[in-house]
Amino acid sequence: MLDDARPSAEAASTPGTVGRVAGVFVSFEGIDRSGKTTQARMLVDALGSEAVPVREPGGTPLGERVRDVIKDPQTEIGPHAEALLFAAARAELCRQVIRPALEAGRVVVSDRFLDSSLAYQGDARGLGVEEVLEMNRWATEGLVPDLTIYLAVDPADAARRSGEADRFEDEGLLLQERVRDAYERLVEAEPSRFRRVDGSLPPDAVHAEVLALVGAARAAAV
Ligand code: TYD
Repeated sequence: MLDDARPSAEAASTPGTVGRVAGVFVSFEGIDRSGKTTQARMLVDALGSEAVPVREPGGTPLGERVRDVIKDPQTEIGPHAEALLFAAARAELCRQVIRPALEAGRVVVSDRFLDSSLAYQGDARGLGVEEVLEMNRWATEGLVPDLTIYLAVDPADAARRSGEADRFEDEGLLLQERVRDAYERLVEAEPSRFRRVDGSLPPDAVHAEVLALVGAARAAAV
């Protein structure tokens, strides 16, 4: 796990709040229907008992309740409250699941993490990437993935893939294009942590790339 190894301009963690531990923290990011969930599951299956799968928002009793509220089309939520809810779920996930797993030397595989808040709330919804980063830095006590795999797909192609309709996915192509642009900026700003993988490739080909990247991250962590 990283402590604060990156230069200050791109640092998402607070120095001194997180120590180096044995585990490896891998997150998957991408627009809706980019194939993250499939790839996270394939990685977890490949890693076997070493893996600790988590999803965002969710993964704890509070997080799952937050997920239900956030995805409920009947519940009107302003952008600030939405960002705070994601961060609250993330704080619990870090404290209850991710940190203990990393301390036990496991490989945490997260379907989304703080970059989702930076891309969706900070950038696409206009709250400001720096502001959302600062709030999440506090919520996560500086926890940052060792490796973030960004699955790059064209928003129009992703929209054609099937999926459940919810509040987010109903908002359409324009939002997904903004989120895609936001991710591209994040990847460019932090090349040491992000790896961009072509998500339009067949799932097995994407998985092979993912395995190679995770293998390298694990070797670097030893
Ligand atoms: P999810 O159910 O993981 O959908 P998908 O499988 O398409 O990724 O996530 C639900 C929605 O929540 C998705 O549109 C992205 C959004 N989201 C944010 O806006 N901010 C966040 O911090 C997170 C974790 C998710």
